[in-house]
Amino acid sequence: MSEAGIRETGIDAAVVLHLPDADATGRLAQALARTAPTPAVVHLHGDLGAGKSTLARGWLRALGVTGAIRSPTYTLVERYSLPMGPLPTGEALHLDLYRIGDGAELEFLGLDDADAALWLVEWPERGGASLPAADLHVALAIEGDGRRCELQPMTLAGRNWLAQAVAQHELAAL
Ligand SMILES: Nc1ncnc2c1ncn2[C@@H]1O[C@H](COP(=O)(O)OP(=O)(O)OP(=O)(O)O)[C@@H](O)[C@H]1O
Ligand SMILES: [Mg+2]
Repeated sequence: MSEAGIRETGIDAAVVLHLPDADATGRLAQALARTAPTPAVVHLHGDLGAGKSTLARGWLRALGVTGAIRSPTYTLVERYSLPMGPLPTGEALHLDLYRIGDGAELEFLGLDDADAALWLVEWPERGGASLPAADLHVALAIEGDGRRCELQPMTLAGRNWLAQAVAQHELAAL
């Protein structure tokens, strides 16, 4: 989906940030992980190298994933069991649909019954209708030496989440 498309269908104003380096992308991931509702579906938009995986990795680490975080480039999906604690628990899914041939392939991943606490989806525009609708769109783009990041809430849960993150100055502190 184009950025314009995201804006058209969003339910509230987008928050736009500049992330000067990869550490800033990691801090954004922490801020969003700490305030996310359960379940939360996040679509990560951006060209190759925009920083989608960096954000997903930082997010999973913030939720306490300590083992290897593999890129789902070839497996399409990696599943994580989140540790018990104050942050969302249950299962987290990290998808990268860049190499998917057809949205229908998603059915073969056995995700239809997935009751995940968190979906982090790279290249969601390739997933078709079987992908759950996003609460939050994150659009990353190269801007100078860093990245431009647009956070667009798509549901009421997403709107409340972003408002909470901003109100707690989680994003302002970046
Ligand atoms: N805010 C930032 N400023 C500068 N570099 C960044 C920033 N965030 C991430 N990077 C760097 O961008 C590079 C590519 O990141 P990443 O692999 O996360 O991209 P991607 O969007 O997942 O790409 P792909 O579509 O190929 O999976 C990495 O070297 C990462 O360190
Ligand atoms: Mg990636």
